[in-house]
Amino acid sequence: MRHLMSPLDFSVEELERLLDLANDIENHRDKYAHACDGKKLATLFYEPSTRTRLSFEAAMLNLGGSVLGFSSADSSSAAKGESVADTIRVISCYADIAAMRHPKEGAPLVAALHSGIPVINAGDGGHQHPTQTLTDLLTIRSLKGRLGGLTIGLCGDLKFGRTVHSLINALVRYENVRFVLISPEELRVPDYVREDVLRKSGHEFTEVTRLEDAIPELDILYMTRVQRERFFNEEDYVRMKDFYILDKEKMRLAGPEMMVLHPLPRVNEISVEVDSDPRAAYFKQAQYGVYVRMALILTLLEVNVC
Ligand code: NCD
Repeated sequence: MRHLMSPLDFSVEELERLLDLANDIENHRDKYAHACDGKKLATLFYEPSTRTRLSFEAAMLNLGGSVLGFSSADSSSAAKGESVADTIRVISCYADIAAMRHPKEGAPLVAALHSGIPVINAGDGGHQHPTQTLTDLLTIRSLKGRLGGLTIGLCGDLKFGRTVHSLINALVRYENVRFVLISPEELRVPDYVREDVLRKSGHEFTEVTRLEDAIPELDILYMTRVQRERFFNEEDYVRMKDFYILDKEKMRLAGPEMMVLHPLPRVNEISVEVDSDPRAAYFKQAQYGVYVRMALILTLLEVNVC
């Protein structure tokens, strides 16, 4: 039985197959409409979510399966003190596969160790968010035609942003990827990402503060929000929250083919005036999230559709 805790749980070849499957789903939706008839997905969300939970649910419904679950810790037995290990043991009796989001780093891994069904990490604290990464990879590959040979700027909260950590982990496996890490000093990537992932990989990376200086050289600009819920005090958040605002003026500095991604939700970091720019791909990215989660469910449940 396979779980998904980190994007590295799949080899590059397996990832390639998963993304191919997602593109096939995109182009032949009907073929997959009954692939998971009779199967159930449990969504165990101990932290707020719109896209991840609902795109998982949409994915399972699109496959003909059904969904059950909870969308906050308050409405589950966690509020009575039940452990993640006990919860997943019980959910294993009710569902065929589970997606779990938790504020504590490693909680989905604990669940996987006690589970009778595949567990998908749908975001654990400031650590990883592998299914957002699958979404990002599918978006980049579909719109740019490749995952290597790209200069990617990651901008915003690189310290607490788990989507950034997972994406860097995944992209270092491709050739000639250059990283431009754009953040205030206080929100730089954690040391383990800088030293154990980036430096070890041998890929070129720079850490800068000004978005304006970096933007002209980018193929992809990956914007992120400042992660309010992970700050120790509100004052620091207020000081940081509007550090970057991507607007039309800054977009004028970018190349004609640069693509803007954002895992969403956005707060102020991308002005709504950018939404109509053809280079803005973040809503398309959300759509890809459904196809890739359908592909992931099929892969982990070992369902083959001919
Ligand atoms: C991200 C997350 O939860 O980490 N959201 C998402 O799943 N698309 C990004 C964020 O919350 O900023």
